[in-house]
Amino acid sequence: MQTKIEPITKESLALAKTIIENSGVVAIPTETVYGLGGNAFDDKAVKTIFEVKGRPNDNPLIAHVHTDYDISALIDYDPPYAKFLREAFLPGPLTLVYPSTDKVSARVSCGLKTLAIRVPAHAGAQAFLKEVGVPIVAPSANLSRHVSPTSAKHVFDDFNGKIPLILDGGDCTGGIESTVCDCTGEYPVILRPGLITKEDIARVVGCCGEYTPNVEKGEKVKSPGVLYKHYAPRCETLSFLKASDAIATAQKISAQGKRVGVLCEADKEAMFTAQGIPVLNLGSTDKEMASNLYGLLREAEIRFDTLIVLQPTKTDGVMQGVLNRLQKACSSKDVPHGEDGIR
Ligand code: TXA
Ligand code: MG
Repeated sequence: MQTKIEPITKESLALAKTIIENSGVVAIPTETVYGLGGNAFDDKAVKTIFEVKGRPNDNPLIAHVHTDYDISALIDYDPPYAKFLREAFLPGPLTLVYPSTDKVSARVSCGLKTLAIRVPAHAGAQAFLKEVGVPIVAPSANLSRHVSPTSAKHVFDDFNGKIPLILDGGDCTGGIESTVCDCTGEYPVILRPGLITKEDIARVVGCCGEYTPNVEKGEKVKSPGVLYKHYAPRCETLSFLKASDAIATAQKISAQGKRVGVLCEADKEAMFTAQGIPVLNLGSTDKEMASNLYGLLREAEIRFDTLIVLQPTKTDGVMQGVLNRLQKACSSKDVPHGEDGIR
């Protein structure tokens, strides 16, 4: 299969619609990361998404809808606070999880009695959603466990020959995936941190919880995605809290003849370059670091055998999302599952 990369035009949107109507998948830009989209009502399309990504078959998908789409037909219950969250943050990088059963393909929510819905702000995503007129399930458009894509080229690198069309909407500005927020209880609970923070949500509805899975106690996990190794570059990654340890390790690895580089905040860069160690500069503010993260992890796997991550010192706000991704990219832990991810 030839994979086309097309700018978003009347013609490419019409082609995307034809592909979606024929149970195919199309990569689309959003303000967070690129998504791999298929019709949420179409069992075959949803199955294809899991197959093409190699996604574990217990990790549910987010349904993306146009700003004018009436979500009441997709959900069983709409808690009053969810309305305030929609008014405050949508369209935007916030996914809300509602009670819902049997409204879309059974494969979407992987047996959970909920549905995650997102209204992306990206103009290209909105144009596509309006054109197709159906909810589109779209996981991040990367091979399962690889770094998420923030450009059409990233998507092409993972899926060349495997999908027919990538709609190119430019580089994603947000850079990390949407905040996933559970709206099935008395108050909102964050399942995956992102660009809309816990503080942002609490400011609007008074309070906001944070979910930590308790797998040791055998509890059923609310958001299976939190368990998997994710966002990982295809090079060794080592993480350090202290710059002196990072420098010593970089020098040791370099002496072994391996290509080594460091990922760090802007104000730490000079410490490494002074030692002749190449640096990938994350930036200075939390939003800059979110926006740069995945592009740099993809650059790291091309340039280096080993990436040394100096943990950023900022930890609040959007940094929670950045640190969550960094921790998963650098962790060797994974929950075992079938390699093919096909149900
Ligand atoms: O920004 C984003 O959210 C991107 C763009 C493409 O929109 N999409 C994305 O999708 O990150 P994905 O599939 O890579 O991540 C979806 C996350 C997973 O952690 C999954 O477990 C969780 O959302 N999720 C999906 N449906 C859920 C549900 N019904 N209940 C709880 N968690 C859910
Ligand atoms: Mg993903």
